[in-house]
This record gives sequence, structure tokens and C-alpha cells, in this order.
Amino acid sequence: MEPQPPLSPTVAVRPAEAADLPAIAAIYNDFVVNATATFDTKPWTRKAQSRWLGEHGHPYAVLVAVHRDEVVGWASLSPFHTKPAYRFTAEDSVYVRAGLEGDGIGAQLLARLLEVAAENGFRTVIARIAGENPASVRLHRRFGFRRVGVEREVGYKLARWLDVLVMQKMLAG
Ligand SMILES: CC(C)(COP(=O)(O)OP(=O)(O)OC[C@H]1O[C@@H](n2cnc3c(N)ncnc32)[C@H](O)[C@@H]1OP(=O)(O)O)[C@@H](O)C(=O)NCCC(=O)NCCS
Repeated sequence: MEPQPPLSPTVAVRPAEAADLPAIAAIYNDFVVNATATFDTKPWTRKAQSRWLGEHGHPYAVLVAVHRDEVVGWASLSPFHTKPAYRFTAEDSVYVRAGLEGDGIGAQLLARLLEVAAENGFRTVIARIAGENPASVRLHRRFGFRRVGVEREVGYKLARWLDVLVMQKMLAG
């Protein structure tokens, strides 16, 4: 077999559309079932996916990374809290298809997501990183997120108590 060229130069990052939802869910549901990266424990239903996309209109966002017409990763900016004084704060998520980690896809998604966050008027972005997740910690640190603290054993999944590491990036001020 011919060696494959590196993915990263050919990944395009664009806003997600409804037609991307099955691919987004396939990437996410793998981690829902097999990993502690998300505290969801049941795969997303189609109805839940559509509702989730609908809740991410401006100023929030869902982006996808596309390689050869296939969605290979996604990232989102979500409300941090429902109370209105939190409206200039967003929480980020980044998921790359299992098996494609380490190729720079997460970095390309997070770079664009942070541009969108600044363009849309957010002051700060929070990452809540569950369990042991050195890839996510390195990714966020590279983009200027700093450790805020640790919520101890707030999750229980795959027969383990899980901490959440909170990291934060200031976009302005
Ligand atoms: C975390 C994740 C989004 C990173 O995306 P990625 O495409 O693998 O990341 P990149 O290739 O852009 O690399 C980003 C950084 O992570 C590091 N990294 C990637 N995989 C790693 C691993 N398995 N262990 C340690 N570091 C790793 C890279 O070296 C790089 O760090 P550097 O810039 O300091 O060199 C991806 O691994 C993923 O989807 N993981 C599962 C879901 C998840 O945990 N999402 C985050 C929820 S908070």
C-alpha cells in the first residue's frame, strides 16, 4: 500500500451543518461508550443530536474538520452556564476520530474555534478535561489555556472515580 500523506495539511475546518450530524455522532459516541473523555454514558440519539446543534447557534458554534469529504473531527463552543451574567464565557469541546489522534487535527480545530470565540465577543473560554487526558491538556496548554483547578472525583464512569481538570484561556482584557 502507498504511504498516506499526513492528514493535517489537507484538513479543512468549517461550520457544521445538519448533514454532518451522523459523522459527528459517530466520532463522539465512540468516546461515550469506550472512554472517560466525556461524562455522557449513553450514545446520542438522532433527536438529541439535532437539539444539540440547534442550541449552538450564534454566538456559540460547532465546527468540523473535513478530510477528503469525510468529517474526521469536530469542536464546539457551548454555553458555560445558563445564568445570564455568564454570557461572555463559553466552554469548548474537541473530538478527533479515534485512530487519527496526533496528526494536528485537534490543533486546527481549536485554533479556528478560538478565533470564532473572539469574533463572537466571548471574553474567556473554559475547558473541563475529564479523567487522565494528557493529549487534551497538551492541546489546551499549547493554545494558552492555564490550569484553574481540579474538581475531585465528580464523575464515575467505566468503574472509576474521575477528576475534572479545569483550564481557562482569556481572550481579552
Ligand atoms: C484531545 C484531542 C482532541 C487532541 O487532538 P489531536 O488531533 O490528537 O491533537 P494534535 O495532534 O493537534 O496535538 C495536540 C497536542 O496533543 C499532543 N498529543 C496528541 N496525542 C497525544 C497523546 N496520546 N498523548 C499525549 N499527548 C498527545 C500533541 O503532541 C500536541 O501537543 P504539543 O503541541 O505540545 O506537541 C484528541 O486526542 C481526541 O479527540 N481525544 C479524545 C477525545 C477527547 O479527549 N477530547 C477532549 C475532551 S476535553
